[in-house]
Amino acid sequence: MNRLQDAYKETPFQVNGHGPRKIQVLKEAFENLDGQLESEMYGKGKLIEDFQEKMASVLGKEAAVFFPSGTMAQQITMRIWCDEKGLKKVAYHPLCHLEVHEEDGLKELHQIESVLLADKTRVIEFEDVTGMKEEVACVLLELPQREIGGLLPDYQTLEAISAYCKEKGIMLHLDGARLFEILPYYEKNAAEICSFFDSVYISFYKGIGGIAGAVLAGDNDFIEKSKVWKRRHGGDLISLYPYYLSADYYFEKRIGKMKQYYEEAKELAGFYNQCYGVSTKPEVPVSNMFHVHFDAPKEVMELILTEICKDADVGLSSYVREVTETISYFEVSIGDLYEKLPHEKLTDAFKLLDARMRANSDKT
Ligand SMILES: Cc1ncc(COP(=O)(O)O)c(C=O)c1O
Repeated sequence: MNRLQDAYKETPFQVNGHGPRKIQVLKEAFENLDGQLESEMYGKGKLIEDFQEKMASVLGKEAAVFFPSGTMAQQITMRIWCDEKGLKKVAYHPLCHLEVHEEDGLKELHQIESVLLADKTRVIEFEDVTGMKEEVACVLLELPQREIGGLLPDYQTLEAISAYCKEKGIMLHLDGARLFEILPYYEKNAAEICSFFDSVYISFYKGIGGIAGAVLAGDNDFIEKSKVWKRRHGGDLISLYPYYLSADYYFEKRIGKMKQYYEEAKELAGFYNQCYGVSTKPEVPVSNMFHVHFDAPKEVMELILTEICKDADVGLSSYVREVTETISYFEVSIGDLYEKLPHEKLTDAFKLLDARMRANSDKT
């Protein structure tokens, strides 16, 4: 039994995300849809094509295709760029999704090697790209870099990396799983950021809060090739409409709220940073997400957070991860729930967190 998880579920106010992943998420998206609309068949049909065209236009690319997952879309992207260059090597961050969360799909399925840029504590900088000793077919940038709290490079760095890759004939791919969430920080639109990249993947179940699914965008030739690979990977389901229609619904519902989530993330990080033995990474968030680090072991934090759920009615997180024996952390992503939190409840929760952190440090 996980006491923190149970207490978090039962507490009336939760800080993170849009709410629990219930079947209602799909029901809401389909509530006002005409039941007589015709499904696509294996990627062909008006509904899916309209959605893909809309996303291509949002991202400022010639074409886009809907994928069941980002994992599939990005491995395929790396394969296409490697085949084109006749070189099975790509470069990316040591903590990017492909390197740490995909069971080595890139290596096992496509025999593509990875060159790791930067170190695990910071984002990829211009010098990391220009200083590469090996030739690669593609450089992948994950914006924001999720596993280090959602850090971002400067806009000028993106510009410089893009120009360098163009000059050297290296393809530049964007892992934009959280692309919309970073636009308020850069004060740019999606197409402006995507213009630096040859190919782009976006997700519909992070800040957008849909069920699952991804879009891959690029030029026509690249997208046609990706469709062939999607079929080879078994991603060409006869009907994907539960995913892309709900993706479209939640895109429309939340795309205008990204600035609000970003401002709320900065406010919340400020509350954490005022507590004893607590710090956020980054200190000032650059998107709707950040990590919270505690000078206390995982087990102690689980007890403290469970108590806050019960005594302050506020769920700050449903889990804690160990960094070392004396340090732990969790991730925060702001969504629709934050605006529903009464301010007094939040103040009470942080008073309690601060007091418990001080009491714990007196004990040790
Ligand atoms: C940065 C990043 N890239 C790629 C993915 C993969 O997306 P999917 O779950 O759709 O395969 C994720 C999912 O969490 C992610 O966070």
